[in-house]
Amino acid sequence: MKIITKVEEMQKISEMHRQNGEKIVCVPTMGYFHEGHLNLMRIAKGYGDIVVVTLFVNPTQFGPNEDFERYPRNFQRDMELASSVGVDYLFAPTVEEMYPDGYATKVVVTKYTDKFEGVKRPGHFDGVATVVTKLFNATKPNVAIFGQKDYQQTLVVKQLVKDLLFDIDIIVAPIVREPDGLAMSSRNVYLSPEERTVANEIYNALNKGVEAIRNGEKRRKHINSIVIEHLRKFNQFYIDYVSAVNAENFEEPEVFRSGEKVVILVAVYLGKTRLIDNMLATVP
Ligand code: PAJ
Repeated sequence: MKIITKVEEMQKISEMHRQNGEKIVCVPTMGYFHEGHLNLMRIAKGYGDIVVVTLFVNPTQFGPNEDFERYPRNFQRDMELASSVGVDYLFAPTVEEMYPDGYATKVVVTKYTDKFEGVKRPGHFDGVATVVTKLFNATKPNVAIFGQKDYQQTLVVKQLVKDLLFDIDIIVAPIVREPDGLAMSSRNVYLSPEERTVANEIYNALNKGVEAIRNGEKRRKHINSIVIEHLRKFNQFYIDYVSAVNAENFEEPEVFRSGEKVVILVAVYLGKTRLIDNMLATVP
């Protein structure tokens, strides 16, 4: 595995592979790898010839009071893990390389961004859309892999690719969980041992919501209440939002239709740590 830190070098390498007729698959990340990330990298292998993982903790997608400074980082470990799953290139630019002085453009996606993470984290998706655009232009992929863990992000990225005519296929990979159901996240390291013991209740709450849908519950507010009620049994949670929404257009009808694909989105604080998770269900 080669480590690349300069945009120009990355572009030259990608161009060379494209000229050779090889298909490039990109996996954008902010590092501190866990099984969720590694699974994206393994899946990437199946979609092309060359796997490029980007590792960049992107300052523009963090709010002023968020955890950019303390976001977990371990480059040595990440390098070893990426290499162990057969990644070809690890593109790890500095902040100065990605946002040099005088940088003055941002990418704003106006669909799917006016709810949930878009509202709770103002400017977050502008930062994501901007950096993903730049990472695509640096790595020139044919395919890019994103995780369902950040469900809203997948919709925003698909919209970005469609609207700006990026010739890139977007693949969404399933959520990888800990044995007890907690969705893997780089931020899980923030949890105290006590917080960690209840963190899997997010998964249990989502399962209850999904089970209700499968058993015929179509009323959105009732589905939300079932999830909320479970979370409220554990006073360590502060609920940021819980919402069942149409998984394709993010609409929130009073009653879901038969055959409608629904995603239940959850964001909670557990102490100071903000965790998000989601689960899909099709209305019978
Ligand atoms: P990061 O949080 O590092 O996540 C990188 C990719 O891994 C994302 O596509 C995310 O959805 C996926 N992922 C994280 N945890 C996962 C899990 N438990 N199961 C499956 N996939 C998981 O998302 C970002 O970085 C950034 O916003 C980025 C797209 C890199 C732009 O900066």
